[in-house]
Amino acid sequence: MVLLIKDEYPEKLLREDGKRLDGRDKTELRPIKMEVGVIKNADGSAYIEWGNNKIFAAVYGPREVHPHHLAKPDRGVLRVFYRMATFSVFDRKRPAPGRREKEISMIITDCIEPVLFLELYPGTAFEVFIDVIDADGGTRCASTTVASLALADAGVPMKSLVTAVAIGKIDGELVVDLSGIEDKAGEADLPLAITWFNGEISLLQFDGAMDLEEFNKCLSLGLEAAEKIYQVQLNSLKNKYIAIQDSVSSNSEEKGGVA
Ligand code: CDP
Repeated sequence: MVLLIKDEYPEKLLREDGKRLDGRDKTELRPIKMEVGVIKNADGSAYIEWGNNKIFAAVYGPREVHPHHLAKPDRGVLRVFYRMATFSVFDRKRPAPGRREKEISMIITDCIEPVLFLELYPGTAFEVFIDVIDADGGTRCASTTVASLALADAGVPMKSLVTAVAIGKIDGELVVDLSGIEDKAGEADLPLAITWFNGEISLLQFDGAMDLEEFNKCLSLGLEAAEKIYQVQLNSLKNKYIAIQDSVSSNSEEKGGVA
């Protein structure tokens, strides 16, 4: 096993054969798995494994807002708490929420809010707790994606799901879904999120250098990749209802058998 020591990055992120260090093509996503209803105490929840990222999201609400002064008399509020476990990264992460976690919580709030009908819930809050158990690049995108899924699992009325993915540049080439090492050693990172009900981009961050043509290409690569991730989100919701349907029909078959 190759042990990567902090700040010791490979010189090249693309191999001789044009593939990336993890063997992916430039437009290939890492493997993604999602499941809903994984936390029984929550009103809604979801889990995502995206490459080496492992992230849980749990939703509570609508419920009373604490502290009370954060409540809004004419609408509900969405509160997102993104946290990384101390063991989720190579260096031990301090347990107290840092500046990065506060920023990521804020951007996830901003990009999910447009799909909610918060005006229907005055004086209350929807709280989304996101815990990153294992982090390997793109956790803000994976967290946004899994948070919107957990809200849907909670039955919160939504205009659509939200899907996020990062496009980046490594060794002068545009690539989809940066891994941790590509994020750190690459030339640019552009996370974006899409709200499907209107096809708008509700998150767009940018770090690095790129010309306008590359930027536009990133947007189309991002949209293409987001479509694939969206299908995984939809399937995970459908799987929940297929499982419920199966258990209801096997229960009624059992009852039929007894009678
Ligand atoms: O995770 P994301 O790409 O959205 O955010 P980032 O701030 O660009 O961080 C990129 C990656 O750096 C994370 O996914 C983690 O793998 C890693 N990281 C870390 O090793 N230690 C931290 N304190 C924060 C992030």
